[in-house]
Amino acid sequence: MRHILEVIDLSKVGFAVVGCGSISKAHIHAIHANQRATLSAVVDIVPERAKAVAEKNNCLWFSSIEEMLAKANVDVVNICTASGLHMEPALIAAQAGKHLMIEKPLEVTRERCDAIISACEEHNVVLGGIFQCRFFAANQLVKQAVAEGKFGQMVLGNAFVKWYRPPSYYAETSWRGTRRFDGGGALMNQAIHHVDLLQWIMGQVTSVQAFSDRLLHKHIEVEDAVTAILRFASGAMGILQASTAVQPGYPKRLEIHGTMGGAILEDDLLVEQSGLKIDPKTEAAINQHAGGATHSDPTALSYLGHELQISDFIEALCTGREPAVSGREARKAVDLVLAIYEAAESGQMVRLTHDG
Ligand SMILES: NC(=O)c1ccc[n+]([C@@H]2O[C@H](COP(=O)([O-])OP(=O)(O)OC[C@H]3O[C@@H](n4cnc5c(N)ncnc54)[C@H](O)[C@@H]3O)[C@@H](O)[C@H]2O)c1
Repeated sequence: MRHILEVIDLSKVGFAVVGCGSISKAHIHAIHANQRATLSAVVDIVPERAKAVAEKNNCLWFSSIEEMLAKANVDVVNICTASGLHMEPALIAAQAGKHLMIEKPLEVTRERCDAIISACEEHNVVLGGIFQCRFFAANQLVKQAVAEGKFGQMVLGNAFVKWYRPPSYYAETSWRGTRRFDGGGALMNQAIHHVDLLQWIMGQVTSVQAFSDRLLHKHIEVEDAVTAILRFASGAMGILQASTAVQPGYPKRLEIHGTMGGAILEDDLLVEQSGLKIDPKTEAAINQHAGGATHSDPTALSYLGHELQISDFIEALCTGREPAVSGREARKAVDLVLAIYEAAESGQMVRLTHDG
């Protein structure tokens, strides 16, 4: 059992962003957009990167997290380093008593996820894992409909993330496409949001079988195409397909079907539904905001999801409740991705134990 969260009552919650690369822009935007938040500092091991971001955003900058923790007034540390480099700064920040928001995936192995979760529990700090797609209205509506039995008994749950990334996407950083620092390819990096949504909406996956391969991006260490079949604890079945090798790239798609209805979502928007009993006006309102069409261009990401998730995290800190996506919640998608990799590598069905 984790400790009761220490409720903080501050007029402004001080944030530090660690890692000033592409996703840091979403965090910084979301912090600025929140009236209860202030950006106190940014950190990057490349000093000029941190300095440039700090000058633009009127905050302190550091090239080491230790120095930042010693000098800046910070309540929350947002970890935006490469996926396999989340744990080290997270452990340092947790030990210093800072709450943590960590980008997806939480980390790239179960052991590294567990080390972060344990450190946060030990030091009584709040841990949130970024899965901003959970905050979009259409995904929440479908999650609630399944939970309330509006679609009847669940039969099929599928997710398709058929994207294209050019070779330059992998070449522009030293970590993308590496086993150690990306932890995997199309599934661990690009499709993990939909891995998360699928198991969040459909419930636990109990067994998987899979194929994975490198079909276009021959120079990377991990897969650029994967297909898995899933069995859920409810008895429902599913297909999960992810790629960064298909031209021109398609909207990510989620298909949720039950005996009494279902829904199809594309890029987090509701495109078809049966059984929800909502009028066209409500449906249009639900479909007003989502995450952007990133199927062929990662920079098309909208920052709305990060705004909503950071707002939820601040609310959690100020009221003492758990954040909507806790560390344990964020770990579930990593666990499922790793089980799919194990199934693809072994050619065997892999059962998930859900021992937490
Ligand atoms: N939520 C989303 O939709 C989304 C989208 C893109 C990326 N991400 C995730 O965000 C993370 C970062 O991805 P990115 O594309 O921004 O990477 P990036 O390579 O653009 O940026 C990472 C930055 O971290 C810095 N860094 C590395 N080690 C550091 C350390 N110990 N201390 C401080 N800085 C350090 C690097 O110098 C670099 O500037 C990854 O985990 C990725 O999966 C999430």
